Amino acid sequence: MTGIVVALALVAAVAALLRWRRPAWYWLTFGVTLAMVRVLVRYRSVMDACGLTVPPARWRLALARVANRPIPEPRSPRICRLRPTRTGLVLRLKLRPGQDAFDIAAASDRLRHSFSMYGVTSRELRSGVVEVRMTGYDVLKRVQMPTETDTRPMRVPVALREDGAVHYRDYRAIPHALTLGATESGKSVYQRNLVAGLAPMDVALVGIDCKQGVELFPLARRFSALADSPDAAAELLDALVGRMEDVYQLIRAEQKITAAVPDAEIAADIWDLPEHLRPVPVVVLVDEVAELALYANKEQEKRRDRIVTALVRLAQLGRAAGIYLEICGQRFGSELGKGITMLRAQLTGRTAHRVNDETSANMAFGDISPDAVLAAIQIPAETRGIAIAGDSSGGWHRIRAPHTSLRQAVNLCNRHADQTPDVPELAPFRPVLSGPVAAPVPSSKPSPAAV
Ligand SMILES: Nc1ncnc2c1ncn2[C@@H]1O[C@H](COP(=O)(O)OP(=O)(O)O)[C@@H](O)[C@H]1O
Ligand SMILES: [Mg+2]
Repeated sequence: MTGIVVALALVAAVAALLRWRRPAWYWLTFGVTLAMVRVLVRYRSVMDACGLTVPPARWRLALARVANRPIPEPRSPRICRLRPTRTGLVLRLKLRPGQDAFDIAAASDRLRHSFSMYGVTSRELRSGVVEVRMTGYDVLKRVQMPTETDTRPMRVPVALREDGAVHYRDYRAIPHALTLGATESGKSVYQRNLVAGLAPMDVALVGIDCKQGVELFPLARRFSALADSPDAAAELLDALVGRMEDVYQLIRAEQKITAAVPDAEIAADIWDLPEHLRPVPVVVLVDEVAELALYANKEQEKRRDRIVTALVRLAQLGRAAGIYLEICGQRFGSELGKGITMLRAQLTGRTAHRVNDETSANMAFGDISPDAVLAAIQIPAETRGIAIAGDSSGGWHRIRAPHTSLRQAVNLCNRHADQTPDVPELAPFRPVLSGPVAAPVPSSKPSPAAV
């Protein structure tokens, strides 16, 4: 008897310790079963208490009266499926007549503490069917990406969402993106994760890093072109515009359309070309974009106009030519001068890390969603890396990228250095590398490819 008590006490102690130190392991061992039992046992009473029930149908009431049976109870949404996941539970509900998805969304906070979960979000899958995603613990506190992700060409699993799902950066769905955030908010780490995700793919990486190249130059072995000053950036962007025009010529030749058709009207893109002809896609990463748009004298102003014009052209026409822009900055508004708001309008994907004021958040989400603006301002300063990401449907999510150190990213880029494609137009900007490839230095944390 005492043996059983001791064993139970030991199990309880282990569970408590895991819950405290390793919530992800606790969830997989004890949490998931307990939570499923809790949800199933409490379901009816919680739905009743949260006002998510409807009165019984009239015919049931009439039948009960005729048969002299007790009056039937109010009915809650029917559970179609309860599925455990790595981070929580997914509940699929069929709504009763008279209920709508908004009722569930409005009650999500009440559901959260009634079921003792960490977070609850809901979305309508189809008419009358709602998916409620619950997380068992704070998944953004210590981000661990799942080993199995749905990777496709040009689609990078870059961060984890607060509901436990993976946030992808899909270049073919959203060609250009803007990432904003105050200094030290996690922009460069986010960008580093993108580079780490793109490194194994068949893609040319181009970097413009006017912070003297401190963020991107260590990753140079996987980059086809790099620029570390506004002058170099201007040349590089002109070369990219040249490449874009060449690719359009190629597509046009393949389509056998007459040369009189203007570029913008060509419907096809590089993905429609046969594989042997298809030019390699290019992702242009710009860190601290404001450096490209500031000027102190007339000459620099001319250079700035040249840079902004090239960026606007790439943003407008680059997608079909397989040139994708990924722009990072602290602010990106009209105070940076002519052409900036025009460029911003072309950057469909928006991500905002912590910002210091509402106007900065408005630059990312003002024209998309006022809720997202509020959420971006509320990101606490101590949780660096948390960001709000808009998605293609107009919704938004709180996300956090895994903390990939520069060393991990360097090792990964060196490992995939032989995959760096040669892009003839960008050859003059290919970083000069000297010495043998540095041997990978073991790092204390697992590399992003290994987790
Ligand atoms: N996703 C993250 N998870 C944990 N820590 C992060 C994350 N992103 C950033 N940090 C921390 O914040 C620091 C600043 O991030 P960084 O990307 O350089 O900011 P920014 O480029 O916006 O100035 C990093 O050195 C790191 O310690
Ligand atoms: Mg930075």
